[in-house]
Amino acid sequence: MSNETSHQSKAGHPSVFSVENKIVVITGGLGQLGSTYAKAFLENGARVVTMDVGSLEEGHPSELHPFVGKKNFLHKVVDITKKATLQNALDEIVTEWGGIPEVLVNNAALDSPPNAPDEEVGPFETYPEESFENVMDVNVSGTFKCCQVFGGAMAKAGKGAIINISSIYGILSPCQDIYEFRRKDGGTFYKPVAYSVSKSAIMNFTRYLATYWAKQGVRVNTLTLAGIFNNQPEEFLDGYCARIPIGRMADASEYVGPVLFLASEASLYMTGSNMVVDGGWSAW
Ligand SMILES: NC(=O)c1ccc[n+]([C@@H]2O[C@H](COP(=O)([O-])OP(=O)(O)OC[C@H]3O[C@@H](n4cnc5c(N)ncnc54)[C@H](O)[C@@H]3O)[C@@H](O)[C@H]2O)c1
Repeated sequence: MSNETSHQSKAGHPSVFSVENKIVVITGGLGQLGSTYAKAFLENGARVVTMDVGSLEEGHPSELHPFVGKKNFLHKVVDITKKATLQNALDEIVTEWGGIPEVLVNNAALDSPPNAPDEEVGPFETYPEESFENVMDVNVSGTFKCCQVFGGAMAKAGKGAIINISSIYGILSPCQDIYEFRRKDGGTFYKPVAYSVSKSAIMNFTRYLATYWAKQGVRVNTLTLAGIFNNQPEEFLDGYCARIPIGRMADASEYVGPVLFLASEASLYMTGSNMVVDGGWSAW
């Protein structure tokens, strides 16, 4: 029986996909996808810092509870729109682990799911400026600040990988038809403009930083995702899945491989790219 670990190739060399010992920061780390990524990085030997406005208290359902108190896991209550709290978090990581992060997953974001209350998802003409600004503040400015603080430290250290999470609604317009069921009985639902604008902004932000830091060893890529299954209403699922060539929404676990790939040396020659993992949504 082979005694090679999952991080080693058959020849006994570390696998190019290894993330072992890397310090990985995941913003929005308590969310559905953030916690899935965190668990996967931990299971693959990385040291993980989740950052979220929420705290990881008992009673808060999370698959991360088994890792609390382990030496390779930290959770920081951080609002990514507040640069000083990001800087504090970086300082604490350096103090606690003696190194700066090598991987930053910019995953925290505000969105309006298909079961969001009417007032959040009205028509474009009356979409509140305040909502637009809130979404841009977290999704774009927050990502910008995380890149300044953590990316800046990576550039100084001469290595790092940044993964900016975008959405198919950042490369294509949302298909408003699939939310028709919400409008049938006088309700409203339009996938709001702010989410799309913010997720498009991420794409060129990625390209900007990729060229800016290319010579300093920091790679910056976008990972563009389609919707994950999360017990959405049946009518939504019917409309959405009909538009996906694969015919179903993603399972959160199906985005783990792409994230680990972009974080590891397997993607060493990749920067400024947009990796689209969408079940074929954008292919037709
Ligand atoms: N869920 C999907 O179907 C889907 C599809 C495509 C792209 N995405 C993208 O994937 C990412 C994660 O999505 P998710 O479904 O896991 O979302 P989620 O809502 O479950 O998690 C987002 C997390 O971000 C945190 N957060 C919000 N504002 C914050 C702030 N200011 N500072 C720190 N943390 C903050 C929230 O508390 C939450 O835990 C997002 O960028 C989203 O746009 C999701």
